[in-house]
Amino acid sequence: SSQYTWAGRFSEPMSDLVKRYTASVDFDRRMWRQDIRASLAHATMLAKQEIISVADLADIERGMAQVVGEIEDGTFVWTLDLEDVHLNIEKRLTALVGDAGKRLHTGRSRNDQVATDIRLYLRDAIDDLLPLLRQFQTSLLDLAEKEAATPLPGFTHLQVAQPVTFGHHLLAYFEMMQRDAERLADCRRRTNRLPLGAAALAGTTYPIDRHYVAELLGFEGVCANSLDAVSDRDFAIEFCAVCAMLMMHLSRLSEELVLWMNPRFGFIRIADRFCTGSSIMPQKKNPDVPELARGKTGRVYGDLTALLTLMKGQPLAYNKDNQEDKEPLFDAIDTVSDTLRIFAEMIAGITVNRERMHSALAEGFATATDLADYLTRKGLPFRDAHEAVGLAVRRAEELDVDLAQLPLAELQRFSPLLGDDVFAVLTVDGSLAARRHIGGTAPEQVLAAVSRARRG
Ligand code: ARG
Repeated sequence: SSQYTWAGRFSEPMSDLVKRYTASVDFDRRMWRQDIRASLAHATMLAKQEIISVADLADIERGMAQVVGEIEDGTFVWTLDLEDVHLNIEKRLTALVGDAGKRLHTGRSRNDQVATDIRLYLRDAIDDLLPLLRQFQTSLLDLAEKEAATPLPGFTHLQVAQPVTFGHHLLAYFEMMQRDAERLADCRRRTNRLPLGAAALAGTTYPIDRHYVAELLGFEGVCANSLDAVSDRDFAIEFCAVCAMLMMHLSRLSEELVLWMNPRFGFIRIADRFCTGSSIMPQKKNPDVPELARGKTGRVYGDLTALLTLMKGQPLAYNKDNQEDKEPLFDAIDTVSDTLRIFAEMIAGITVNRERMHSALAEGFATATDLADYLTRKGLPFRDAHEAVGLAVRRAEELDVDLAQLPLAELQRFSPLLGDDVFAVLTVDGSLAARRHIGGTAPEQVLAAVSRARRG
């Protein structure tokens, strides 16, 4: 018989180009551990159901142990002739143990096999990503705790709006990551279902026990419909959507890091190991890592778009289109994993210039809202207070001073309700301390939020 698994039906071999075009082994061999784990569970079930003998199972286990050894020590020979990871491993197993190897595929198809492998692979990847995400969150919490009382201009429209604490600002990203982590955990639940048993599309005539295989592989249940089991990749799409969202969040932080590092701001420095220089301009130190994270966000959006487009309009059940699901999925996993790892370290290595952050609040009338709130507390309706303060700001702008620098008599022209207790309200620290409700920016609230977050 020829080297091709299905040679029986064919009258001529594939051209080299077609072989290269249809093969996936170069990228799907990443799933070899999952492929072997799933095959061993399948074989164990076949033996339990007396579909293969106990002796066959023993041969399969012995052969697979050797295959694992060969792959790990790099002596395993991967070949395009055998198309994908599944056939490469099965063929080697058969070379090692003979007929038992040929019996492994009983009651199974590569269609349910590959669907199982990807789900196992993705489940493992999510289990690796969640702790990375947690580490990044821990870096955010550590810095937020240190900078719980550090004033920073809060922006709307990238214009100074109101004082916030840097700690509070960092905790906003903690919250985004918290939701991303929840989404990942949720996606894991839907990923963690067993397709095996669906065979090519219609199920199989053997007396298989799918629940047993699910249990052996740690799946939370079995896919309920064989056609759906082999054909849909919505779990991978969902994962890429979560990754796209997560990268979108990191791209916002990246943009802020780039701004904050700009000498015009001078709010922070990130460690040199996350920057590069210029080949022509000797003075440059560029924020390459946050810029790349911003750029790689586009890449992950691309992965999501690729998978959505791949799935669109596919008739039931399996189509070879689906072989194209792996590279985008792996790319999203790799990109998010590297980015989280690097961000955990980069955030931990941030040096804060508290002076610069604070002095940036001297411009932009950041406490104008506090003044309006003060007048409101004295009985003026808020809308009238808003207008009075607007006029005061205009005056301060004319004189090129901050609100707190206007003499009391000058301020009182805008409202007779103003007393000399107003200057406490106009300070940055007063403004911050006053926002002491849950979710507010007051330093004590930031510390409380950090400890709540640490408790989980
Ligand atoms: N390499 C294939 C994939 O990734 C495995 C399934 C192939 N099945 C088939 N009928 N050609 O989807």
